Amino acid sequence: MKIFSLFFLIIHRITIIMPLRNEIASLEELAKKKIHEILMLNRDQIKEKAYKWRMIFMEYLPGNLRTDLLCYGFSKYDSKLCMPSYPLNFWVPFSIALFDKRIKYVPPISINDLEKDLPLLLSFISYLWTYRPKIDKLFMNLVYVNKNCNRWNNCNNSIQLSMNILRKCFDEGLANNLVQLQLTYQCDDSILIAIGRHSKYLKMLDVSCSSAITINGIKGFIFKNLNTLQNDMLNGSEVQIYAFLKSIIENREILNTICFTLEEIRLQYNKTNNLGWILIISCIQSLRHLGWPGKWNIKKIIMTVWHEIIKPKTFNLQSITLVDWDIACEEIYMMTECLPNLRNLNTTLTRSYEPLNSRNHQLLIKFWNKLNSLTLYIENSIEYFELFCRNGYVQNLSELTIKSVSLDISVDLALLQSGCPNLIILDIVSILLYINLKPTGKFKYLKKVTTEAPSAETKSWFLFYGCPSLEEFQIYNEVDPEYWKNIFINPPSLICQQMKRLQIVFVLSNENTDFLIQPYVMNYSIITEFIRKCLVLNIFGSILNFNMSTQDIENIYSFIRMNNYSLTIY
Ligand SMILES: *[C@@H]1O[C@H](CO)[C@@H](O)[C@H](O)[C@H]1NC(C)=O
Ligand SMILES: *[C@@H]1O[C@H](CO)[C@@H](O)[C@H](O)[C@H]1NC(C)=O
Ligand SMILES: *[C@@H]1O[C@H](CO)[C@@H](O)[C@H](O)[C@H]1NC(C)=O
Ligand SMILES: *[C@@H]1O[C@H](CO)[C@@H](O)[C@H](O)[C@H]1NC(C)=O
Ligand SMILES: *[C@@H]1O[C@H](CO)[C@@H](O)[C@H](O)[C@H]1NC(C)=O
Ligand SMILES: *[C@@H]1O[C@H](CO)[C@@H](O)[C@H](O)[C@H]1NC(C)=O
Ligand SMILES: *[C@@H]1O[C@H](CO)[C@@H](O)[C@H](O)[C@H]1NC(C)=O
Ligand SMILES: *[C@@H]1O[C@H](CO)[C@@H](O)[C@H](O)[C@H]1NC(C)=O
Repeated sequence: MKIFSLFFLIIHRITIIMPLRNEIASLEELAKKKIHEILMLNRDQIKEKAYKWRMIFMEYLPGNLRTDLLCYGFSKYDSKLCMPSYPLNFWVPFSIALFDKRIKYVPPISINDLEKDLPLLLSFISYLWTYRPKIDKLFMNLVYVNKNCNRWNNCNNSIQLSMNILRKCFDEGLANNLVQLQLTYQCDDSILIAIGRHSKYLKMLDVSCSSAITINGIKGFIFKNLNTLQNDMLNGSEVQIYAFLKSIIENREILNTICFTLEEIRLQYNKTNNLGWILIISCIQSLRHLGWPGKWNIKKIIMTVWHEIIKPKTFNLQSITLVDWDIACEEIYMMTECLPNLRNLNTTLTRSYEPLNSRNHQLLIKFWNKLNSLTLYIENSIEYFELFCRNGYVQNLSELTIKSVSLDISVDLALLQSGCPNLIILDIVSILLYINLKPTGKFKYLKKVTTEAPSAETKSWFLFYGCPSLEEFQIYNEVDPEYWKNIFINPPSLICQQMKRLQIVFVLSNENTDFLIQPYVMNYSIITEFIRKCLVLNIFGSILNFNMSTQDIENIYSFIRMNNYSLTIY
């Protein structure tokens, strides 16, 4: 009863006494936090007597407040997809007390073991079906780990059942308002078709890893009902297909609305032929971001579609993934023409372009210099990239990510600096950065660096000379605690005056969870003195592997609390 009266008091405040939102936003936050605490305290009771509580919630809490409560503890996922901090079984059971059609959005769902969490998924989908809220985002990542083959059929049937209900939800209103939809692993043709038919505003669709998707799903996603003649055209020779597509790519009577709204798609299908990609690339002209397309040679498809269908118009694409960068200079010329907005490229580098004549050199400069962001997957050698650095092809990059599958690839810092002097973000985990000759220039704009096991010389170059704008430094597999001890005791002005994030993850030895570093290298006073000096810092990551005693760690946490530092440390 006490809880109830406290609860009503707070509700009363929110609904009646509370000043306008913009006047005292923090009071509202405080109230939400309080209500949330009450919900958590009474979690079991709410789950048990959901309908009783529901009457109270529905009467007193407006939809957006219930939405907030439902999603409380999940970071806002407007810009980037965040993983939920609460597991499904934490919120789904009591969402029955909060859910109705006025819910504005739902927390992202990430299931790594569908067999285990299938009942939760089913209840969630049945709330969607019962209340049909007008949500504009839905994120569902549904991984099935096939551990127990005996139960696979059972499980498959239940998954199928959930997906059928979900498809009905899309058909009967859920798809209408969606702007972002992620449905990975379990999307199928019928769902894809329902989304294509009903979505009016969809901008982002991620149905990655759904191996059930076929060309029929893609057809139904893109086209309204095709008549026999049109179907025959699509079923005909390449020439017929291209002629047909050329005649309808602006036709809103034939194409679904998504062809004019969708900006980003992530999808793979690997059956039959490349017609699916031809349809997507020619018909969805609003498309800006094309995620990993599976095994398809997207470069070839893009050029074919341009030649045969789109020309003289060009594509709106800004980012693409090319699984295999085996591209000749003539093709580069064509890519430059048909993708005038291309800024982000995700690829491997498998061609060196040597020997070069000056015309080809100009073509390459023109193509590469337009890129702002490059993600490279290096398989065995980085020498092509080094050549690009030397030839000035990547001068204009502001964001560079290099990933490598092999462990012994390294790149010369001086070459990287002179080749990409305009970087703002550098992420080269899994590649070693070494210094041969000290770089002569600086990364004037570099704000964010993520790297792995750098040498002391490299670290010092970043911290003391090379990066006057550095704000975030993340290091993985660090092996040198002595170096950091000295830095913490005598932090350079860069760290104290402008660094917002410093995260060091020391290497773990394989066998046990002990750390390689010497006992008690760091201690309470070193870390707290450092924090006191560097007040700009607001993320310091984990100190659990700093080889300190549990007592020291506890004391550091309370030091931060007592001083009211807004420092994230975990
Ligand atoms: C799952 O079940 C559906 C229908 O019950 C069936 O069509 C499909 O082939 C099954 N999938 C697998 C991988 O067994
Ligand atoms: C491709 O097909 C194979 C076998 O047919 C299947 O196991 C795999 O999941 C499919 N992959 C994708 C991305 O569709
Ligand atoms: C396309 O042609 C194949 C055989 O050539 C046929 O099996 C299929 O039904 C046709 N599809 C349509 C939509 O006409
Ligand atoms: C980049 O391409 C790789 C495969 O080449 C893929 O695994 C990865 O998801 C892609 N990244 C993005 C952001 O699409
Ligand atoms: C380099 O990038 C900037 C910013 O995106 C752009 O304005 C400029 O045109 C690019 N330079 C070249 C040579 O393309
Ligand atoms: C620090 O590392 C040493 C060496 O691995 C280990 O013996 C010691 O227990 C660790 N101390 C703490 C407090 O973790
Ligand atoms: C912490 O470490 C520093 C440097 O090694 C040392 O001077 C100091 O005495 C240590 N403090 C404590 C409380 O152990
Ligand atoms: C931290 O905040 C509390 C109240 O929010 C206040 O009482 C305390 O004095 C503050 N401590 C410092 C060191 O500012």
